[in-house]
Amino acid sequence: MNEMSIRFPRVIGHRGAVGHAPENTLGGIRKAAELGATWVEFDVALTKDDVPVLLHDETVDRTTDGSGNLADMTLQDVQALDAGRWFSDAFAGEHIPTLSETIRLLDTLGLGVNVEIKPTPGRESETGRIVAKQVADEWPNSMRAPVFSSFQVEALVAAQQAAPAIPRGWLMRRPGKGWQDQARALDCLSIHCNHRALDSKIASEIRNAGYHLLAYTVNDAKRALKLFEWGVESVFSDYPERILAI
Ligand code: G3P
Ligand code: MG
Repeated sequence: MNEMSIRFPRVIGHRGAVGHAPENTLGGIRKAAELGATWVEFDVALTKDDVPVLLHDETVDRTTDGSGNLADMTLQDVQALDAGRWFSDAFAGEHIPTLSETIRLLDTLGLGVNVEIKPTPGRESETGRIVAKQVADEWPNSMRAPVFSSFQVEALVAAQQAAPAIPRGWLMRRPGKGWQDQARALDCLSIHCNHRALDSKIASEIRNAGYHLLAYTVNDAKRALKLFEWGVESVFSDYPERILAI
């Protein structure tokens, strides 16, 4: 297991604070901080010209006023889109942020971060490598180290090679057969599971193997309490304030 010690918070704002603000935007990250979250999670993928930007889907259709595959769009194409108005008029003018500008905002807000590497299909390794390299190069010394995560093992392997010192979490629905060998090979710090697929037995297996355990996406305080009882340390939430109120 990765020996780096990190103290995860009880709640991590999911894609910023999706319940209150457009996902994966600077406004969303500010909102999470306003609500009291001390950490945020967001998704990062590459534009056609290899710039890491914040986006969850393969296309920009759902979360902007444009359409098309991110993999076919340059940074300039992406920056022309409005990524806030679809959510509400109050967020009109939000854009798809680059990872670089997001790092600067996180520094200002003093937030901890889980950077989910979300490659567009076929770009798993290069996304892991480019994102990890940029984080290693640009992360301010004043900020605590981020944690990378990904559903794509290939992306985590590439991140591990490009920036071995930055801790990794393996993101999955739930652990499958032989998960421990793979987690060891990735030198993971944490395992991030879908809370719906977790039970106390699986949670104990993960904790007893020495990994931090995080669960997504938890919007109900009672459910969060049950997960904490099982040994989950941190939940990703669209409504961080609900978990903070426990
Ligand atoms: O990182 C936790 C969670 O964000 C994973 O699922 O689809 O919301 O990126 P998704
Ligand atoms: Mg995510």
